[in-house]
Amino acid sequence: MKQDVKKICIVGASGKLGRYMVQQALDRGYEVVGVCREKSVAKLDDFKNRITIIPGATNDRDVIKRAVSGCDGVLSVLVPWGVQQYSSGTAQAVMDFSEPNARLIFSCGWHISRDGKDMYSWKLKALVKIFGGVARLFRLVELNDQVEACRRIFESDTKWTVVRGSDLEEGESQGLPVWSRHVGDPILESNLTRRSDFALFMVAALENDELIHEAPAIVGCQSASALAHASVKHDT
Ligand SMILES: NC(=O)c1ccc[n+]([C@@H]2O[C@H](COP(=O)([O-])OP(=O)(O)OC[C@H]3O[C@@H](n4cnc5c(N)ncnc54)[C@H](OP(=O)(O)O)[C@@H]3O)[C@@H](O)[C@H]2O)c1
Repeated sequence: MKQDVKKICIVGASGKLGRYMVQQALDRGYEVVGVCREKSVAKLDDFKNRITIIPGATNDRDVIKRAVSGCDGVLSVLVPWGVQQYSSGTAQAVMDFSEPNARLIFSCGWHISRDGKDMYSWKLKALVKIFGGVARLFRLVELNDQVEACRRIFESDTKWTVVRGSDLEEGESQGLPVWSRHVGDPILESNLTRRSDFALFMVAALENDELIHEAPAIVGCQSASALAHASVKHDT
């Protein structure tokens, strides 16, 4: 049965993906609570008086506890900033404090694998290795913590969906992205999605129960590979 969602929380609301999600959630008539760092509150000025903002670090458990209270759904932007368990701390707090029946949607990239059956190009593998290594060296980003966050989500019995984004580009919406269970599936070959459509997929997932306990890898619906394999259906 389709879940009835009225009030949602967006964790990481001030980022690029977050702001697209805020707009789309308001368009759908949801009551929105947004969490973002104190210094980023002004990035949400366009939504002033239309959403409730709770300033704070997204891995601050008290902040998340207050923000997700009473929410039917939580959209979390998982980012592996710094070396302070930012992703896993955020994911854990969201899972610990959300309402028992809430829909929990998390964002990440294609590099996350749920079952180890994803087939990555050498380019993606090299990028993750080099970028991950250099970023960790400078204590900027901890890609492994996003992996740990998703490992915990996959093991949880909450109503989760982990949306795995391809490379992103800006631009007007082309419509709801298509998805597949494994990177390497032909429909995903184009590896490009509009960021606004990534947000669209995240928000639409709130009311799509077929995506519960799925980790869809998405690609733009107008991309060449999506158009070439448009008839592919998911056997859920
Ligand atoms: N970029 C890509 O090509 C790509 C590809 C595939 C998947 N994804 C996934 O898409 C999601 C959004 O990524 P995005 O690239 O579009 O970024 P984004 O939406 O701009 O989000 C970045 C988030 O990180 C926060 N942030 C930035 N610097 C921070 C810091 N030093 N400490 C703590 N938080 C910090 C931002 O908050 P403030 O507003 O406070 O700065 C914002 O909430 C992520 O889950 C990512 O894994 C991205």
